[in-house]
Amino acid sequence: MQNIDKKYTVITGASSGIGYATAIAFAKRNKNLIVIARREEQLALLKQKIADINPQLEVVIKVCDLSKSTNVHALFNQLDNYFIETWINNAGFGNYGSVGDQDLDKIETMLHLNIEALTIFSTLYTRKYQNQSGTQIINISSRGGYTIVPNAVTYCATKFYVNAFTEGLAHELKQIKAKLTAKVLAPAATQTEFGQKANNVTEYDYDKSFAKYHTADQMAEFLLALYDSDKTIGEINTKDFSFSLKDSIFPYSGDPKQNQKS
Ligand SMILES: NC(=O)c1ccc[n+]([C@@H]2O[C@H](COP(=O)([O-])OP(=O)(O)OC[C@H]3O[C@@H](n4cnc5c(N)ncnc54)[C@H](OP(=O)(O)O)[C@@H]3O)[C@@H](O)[C@H]2O)c1
Repeated sequence: MQNIDKKYTVITGASSGIGYATAIAFAKRNKNLIVIARREEQLALLKQKIADINPQLEVVIKVCDLSKSTNVHALFNQLDNYFIETWINNAGFGNYGSVGDQDLDKIETMLHLNIEALTIFSTLYTRKYQNQSGTQIINISSRGGYTIVPNAVTYCATKFYVNAFTEGLAHELKQIKAKLTAKVLAPAATQTEFGQKANNVTEYDYDKSFAKYHTADQMAEFLLALYDSDKTIGEINTKDFSFSLKDSIFPYSGDPKQNQKS
């Protein structure tokens, strides 16, 4: 039986970077957590760190490869007995390289994780929680989901999907007066393991690669500001790296009945 007095925040990709920092930030807000990633040791270290901050909190570890859709469905079902107040789809990775040269195994995994897993979780969460007060789904996208970055075309395309899907979901939920709200965070360069993974290297120097970047802790603070607001988008300005909250960025056709017969 679901105990709705005890609430949880789910964070995918919580073993490093933005997801890890977000887990700490939500723990400081006294939120019980369900943290998901493939590296169990990293999640165990996170759990220990949270126990040092607040031993009363519950941290549930779920080790899962989210690039396989069967795992994604199975994991959502396993969480049926938890009341999930907030669902944060953060797990994702990038790839630098031209389309002609890209490694298709890596790219297919990226499409499964960045697009498929996020869509499955968003759909199942919306279906179950759209009429529950105070619930939120926050998808982590990228500024590269509003501007195409050279040498990162396929990654950007996955994040254009995340932005379009989440902005569209937010419109849809408002139209049906759902209690669930959908939001999207669009970071620019942030110092995490992203650079290593996108470039297939073991070390990556953000100071050498970027004039400006944020830390994962700063990004988690922006995420909290988005969480606290009634806006749909938390966006980093790529020129001055300022953070702003917006209602929408993509054009929206508005009235769905405009040119539809039924
Ligand atoms: N850093 C940036 O500059 C930047 C900019 C814009 C957007 N973003 C977005 O921010 C999000 C977080 O990335 P990050 O920068 O924090 O990078 P990160 O440090 O590499 O973190 C990525 C997280 O995703 C998890 N993950 C990767 N593959 C997975 C899989 N198959 N199944 C389950 N979990 C998986 C990783 O955990 P395991 O390896 O343990 O599975 C890790 O916890 C991503 O969606 C990324 O696209 C990052």
